[in-house]
Parts: sequence; C-alpha cells; structure tokens
Amino acid sequence: MSLVTEDRIALIERALSQGIACLLFSVLIHGTCLAQAPTNPGRTAPDQSEDLILGRYVYTRNCQICHGARGDGKGEWSPGLSPQPRSFRAAHFKYRSTPFGKLPLDEDLRRTIRGGRSNTAMGMFTRLSERELDAVIAYLKTFSRKWRDPALVAPAVTLPAQPSWFDASKERALRVRVGAELFTTTCAPCHGLKADGKGPQAEGLVDVHGRPIKPADLLTPHLRNGNAAEDLMRVLLTGLNGTPMISFAESFSDDELWAVVAYLLECRDSNSSLPKRNAAEVTP
Ligand code: HEC
Ligand code: HEC
Repeated sequence: MSLVTEDRIALIERALSQGIACLLFSVLIHGTCLAQAPTNPGRTAPDQSEDLILGRYVYTRNCQICHGARGDGKGEWSPGLSPQPRSFRAAHFKYRSTPFGKLPLDEDLRRTIRGGRSNTAMGMFTRLSERELDAVIAYLKTFSRKWRDPALVAPAVTLPAQPSWFDASKERALRVRVGAELFTTTCAPCHGLKADGKGPQAEGLVDVHGRPIKPADLLTPHLRNGNAAEDLMRVLLTGLNGTPMISFAESFSDDELWAVVAYLLECRDSNSSLPKRNAAEVTP
C-alpha cells in the first residue's frame, strides 16, 4: 500500500468535515498525528493516521462497490440489491450485541465483516488480516458523527440464563405453548402465523430510510443473526436498529422471551409452526 497524496487529501477533507483537529494539523504538517494532540491524549497518533489510510484502502478495494465512496450505501452495485447495503452515514446497525438504538461493538462489526450475512449481498471477508479488519472498521466509523456520541455507546446486553425447563421435555412443551400464544398475538402480524414472514402487516413495512422491508422468514435454514437459541434471544432483546423489528426486552419477562424462543425452535425443527404447536399442547 502506498501513502499516496490522494489518500491524504481525502483524509484531511474527512477530518475537516468531522472536526478532527489532530489529524488535520499533523497530517498536513508532519504527515503524522502528534502523540500529545489535545483531542486524543492517550493515543500514539502515527498509528491512527496510518490505520485510517490503510482502512480507506481496504474500504475502496472491498466495500465501496456496495457501500459507496461516501459511505452512504449507494455504491455501483447497490441498485437492485435487497436488502440494500448499509449506509454508514446514517449508521443504523442491525447486527449488534448492544441495546436497541445503540451502536454496535467492534466485535459485532468484526463478526459481520468476517462472517457475512446469509441471504444478503454482504459476503464473508475471510482474507483480510486482523490489522486490515481493524483499519476498515476504524475507517467506516469516520462516516458518521454518531461514533463520537457517548450516549450511543453501550456494552453488550447480558442474555438471561436459560430457565431450567428449557431442556426438560414435558415442562418445555407447556412453555412452548405459552410461546406460541405470545407469538400469535405479537409477532404473527408481521412474521405470519406460520413464522414464514408472510403476516398481514408484512407488505406495508418500511425501514428507517422509507424503503420496503420484509419481516424475516423465521423458517429459513440460515437466519441472518444465527440459528442458536442465544441468537434468537439476542435479537428479541436488542432488536434490529433501523427496521420495524424492535426490542421486546421491555414487553416480556425473560421467561416469556425464552418461551417464544423455544416455540421458534420447535417451528424450525418441524419446519411448520402450526402442526407442531398443536402437538405441543400437552395437558398439565
Ligand atoms: C456486494 C455488496 C457488498 C460488499 C462488497 C460489502 N457489503 Fe457490507 N453489506 C452489504 C449489504 C447488502 C448489507 C446489508 C445486509 C442486511 O441488511 O442484512 C451490508 C451490511 C454490512 C454491515 C452491517 C451493519 C449492520 O447493520 O450491523 C457492515 C458492518 C458491513 N456491511 C461492512 C462491510 C465492509 C467493511 C465491507 C468491505 C470489507 C463490505 N461491507 C462489503 C453489501 C456489501
Ligand atoms: C412490526 C413488524 C414486526 C414484528 C411485530 C416483529 N418482527 Fe421480527 N422482524 C421484522 C422485520 C422487518 C425483520 C427483518 C429485518 C431485516 O431485514 O433484517 C425481523 C427480523 C426478525 C428476526 C431476525 C431473523 C434473522 O434472520 O436473523 C427474528 C428472530 C424475529 N424478527 C423474531 C420476531 C419475534 C419472535 C417477534 C415477536 C416477539 C417479532 N419478530 C416481531 C418485523 C417484525
């Protein structure tokens, strides 16, 4: 990778627009960022500016075609993609371990970039080195000021422990029935009674950008957020920012949420929710 002038100019423009005084002065004057720069006293800034240049390089070569040179999700390949590539300027992130409305952790971003997301154009970037991955993450954060708002930063939510009934078949069957009822009243309007994503409200839904968005088919072999009980639980607790899939952390107790998860797992095992739900109706 060469530290070409073009890269620097673009970085300075970005720094300017974001008010990163440290980068502006030092890249301009020294080609590095001063360690004692008042905006960021704790960091050795040469790494910071080099990381951003590397990040921009990695981004331009690997991400720009979809996420756009301006990070607005409007790359060359974007037209026709569904879902659309994420806008890093709007910075509503779906794939998070953090509470609804908060920014993702670097770890969350790493998982998305390394592993890709099933049934979307977001592929796996397994060949990036750890340094390149960190650098592209640092770079994508330069597209939004949200990353500088401490109110949007939060640690990962702690998943509540699985209740003892989760593996016990008779009691579990009873709780699955509770989960089925909650699903029917709360989730089926969007996801459909069969959990296939075809609920009565599915057609009219839009995301935060006003674009049509479909409720997930919860019977699909590879769910975007993962298939494990913990993955489902995490989605229910955290919600998916920028989509109509909100957090249900406040609406249900932990036990009820696990009941919904158990029900969804039953649906997925039998690949058809209704017959299994009836089969689960065990009399106490
Ligand atoms: C072929 C198109 C394409 C390329 C190339 C691509 N992405 Fe994506 N990316 C997408 C799409 C589409 C989504 C939206 C997926 C969704 O909504 O489920 C996405 C989503 C993401 C997200 C998810 C954010 C969230 O909501 O949590 C991140 C982070 C991301 N991309 C980073 C990258 C990075 C970094 C690169 C380059 C190393 C890259 N992408 C390359 C298409 C692409
Ligand atoms: C207002 C409509 C709406 C309601 C109500 C709703 N969802 Fe969703 N849900 C969505 C949408 C839309 C998505 C897909 C977002 C996307 O594009 O990634 C989604 C995604 C999901 C996912 C992630 C799927 C994946 O691929 O990882 C799960 C799990 C889920 N919903 C479960 C539920 C459950 C359980 C309930 C009820 C407690 C529920 N949803 C209620 C609209 C809704």
